[in-house]
Amino acid sequence: MEFDFDVMVLGLGPVGLVTAVGFAELGHRVLGVDIQVEKVNALKQGKVPFYEPGVEPALQKHLREHRIAFDHDAAPWIPRAEVIFVCVGTPTKPSGEADLSAVRSVVEEVRRHAHGYTLVVEKSTVPVLTARWMEQEFQKVADHDIEVASNPEFLREGSALHDFLHPDRIVLGVRSSRAEHILRNLYRGIETEFLVTDIETAEIIKHASNAFLAMKISFINMIADLCEKTDADVVDVARGMGLDPRIGPSFLRAGLGFGGSCFPKDIRAFQHIGQTLQLDFELLTSILRINEQRIHRFVQHFEEVLGDLKGRTLALLGLSFKPNTDDIREAPSLKVIQALRARGARLHLHDPVAIPNVQKLFPESPPDLIYFEDPYEAIRDADGLGIITEWDLYQTLDLPRVKSLLKRPVVVDGRNIFDPETMLNLGFVYRGMGRGRWLRKKS
Ligand code: UGA
Repeated sequence: MEFDFDVMVLGLGPVGLVTAVGFAELGHRVLGVDIQVEKVNALKQGKVPFYEPGVEPALQKHLREHRIAFDHDAAPWIPRAEVIFVCVGTPTKPSGEADLSAVRSVVEEVRRHAHGYTLVVEKSTVPVLTARWMEQEFQKVADHDIEVASNPEFLREGSALHDFLHPDRIVLGVRSSRAEHILRNLYRGIETEFLVTDIETAEIIKHASNAFLAMKISFINMIADLCEKTDADVVDVARGMGLDPRIGPSFLRAGLGFGGSCFPKDIRAFQHIGQTLQLDFELLTSILRINEQRIHRFVQHFEEVLGDLKGRTLALLGLSFKPNTDDIREAPSLKVIQALRARGARLHLHDPVAIPNVQKLFPESPPDLIYFEDPYEAIRDADGLGIITEWDLYQTLDLPRVKSLLKRPVVVDGRNIFDPETMLNLGFVYRGMGRGRWLRKKS
C-alpha cells in the first residue's frame, strides 16, 4: 500500500479512531495503525467497531477521499512519520497503577524504526512522568532525533468527534517550539484556547480534570444522602450551588454515581501516583468510596419499600454507563444487577443498545434474568421499576401506561429523571436519589 500522510495514530480504540477521523476532518492525511488485524480490516471497510455518533459516516467519507488509511503494522511507516499520536490503552493493574505495557511496545517500535525527526505525542491518559521515561528510552538510541510531547484528550463518549472538533481547550505539553509549531499546525482551523506548557503539567492537567469532575459527582452524592435524612431536595441544592459561577452547575447531578472507562480507572491511577510520591491523596479514596455506596443506596430504596427482595421481580432500565453509548465498562448497572441477584430478585432488563454487551457477562436465564427489547414489556408485572441510565427514551415513557403495567407502582429513579410531584400525583411510590422532600410523602 502506498500512502502519504501527515499524522500517524497508533492505537484505534475510541480515542485513537476519533483522533484519526478528527484530524482527517481538519484536512490532514492520516494513517491509523492497530495491531488487531480484524479491527483494521473492518475500518478499511468503513465499519466502526463501537457506537460513537458521527464517526462512521465521517470515516467512510475520508476513506473515499483517500484522506485516511489503516494498517496493522506500524514498522514500515514509522521511518516516514513526522508526528505519531500514541492512543493505545492504559488499563489499570490490580494495584490501581496504570498498565503501560502497550505504551512500552510503542516506544520500542518507534525506537527501532524512527528515522530523522519524529515527534511522539501522548494522547492516551498516562501518569505524570511517563514522558520523561519515554525520553530516557529514546535517548538510548544513537543519533536519535525523537521528541516527546503531551496532548491530552478531553473527549466524552457519545460526543467524542464533536468534542475533538469543538474543544474547550487544547493543552500542548512541549519541550521545544518546533513541537509546538507542529501541533498548532495540526489543529489549525479550531478556534479555542491553546494552553502551551511543559509536558509534566499537561500530564497532570488530564488526571486532575477527571479527578475533579468525579469529585463534584461524589460531593453532590454525599449531599444527596444528607437531603434524604433531612427531607430536603438535592436537585434544588445543586441548583443553588451551581448558580455561583465559582462552582458552576455541571457535574452536580446526583444519582447512581459515575462509571465508564475513564473516571474510575483514572482516579485509581492518580491515587497510585500520590502513593508513589508519598502525598496525601486521601480525598480520592473518599470519591471512590462514596461512588461505591450509591449502588447500596439504590438497592436499599427498593428494600425499604418492598422488604425482602427474594422472589420479587424488578424491571431495570438502562445498562450502559451513560446514555448514547453501548459501553458498559464499570457501569453502575453491573453492580446493581449483582447486588439485586444476590438478594434473590428476578430481573427484567432493558437498554436500547447495550444488551449484547451485558449478555456476555450475565447470560439470560429465565425467569431470573430476562432481557427485553421493549421497555414496556420489561415493566409488565414487575414489583418495581428502577432507572439506572437516563436514556431520552425513558424520560418520555408513557407514565400512566407504566403504572398500569406494574404489579406494584414502585419506582426507584437512580438518575432523577422524573418529577417527584408528577409521580406521586400519578399514584406511584416514587423514590429519587437525594429527593428527601418527597421521601415520606404518600401518593
Ligand atoms: C469523561 C470526561 O467527561 C471527559 O472529559 C474525558 O475526556 C473522558 O472522561 C476521558 O478521560 O477520556 P466520559 O467518561 O465519556 O468522559 O463520561 P462523562 O460524560 O464525563 O460521564 C462520566 C460518568 O459520570 C457517567 O457515568 C455519568 O453518568 C456520571 N455523571 C456525570 C454523574 O453521575 N453526574 C453528573 O453530574 C455527571
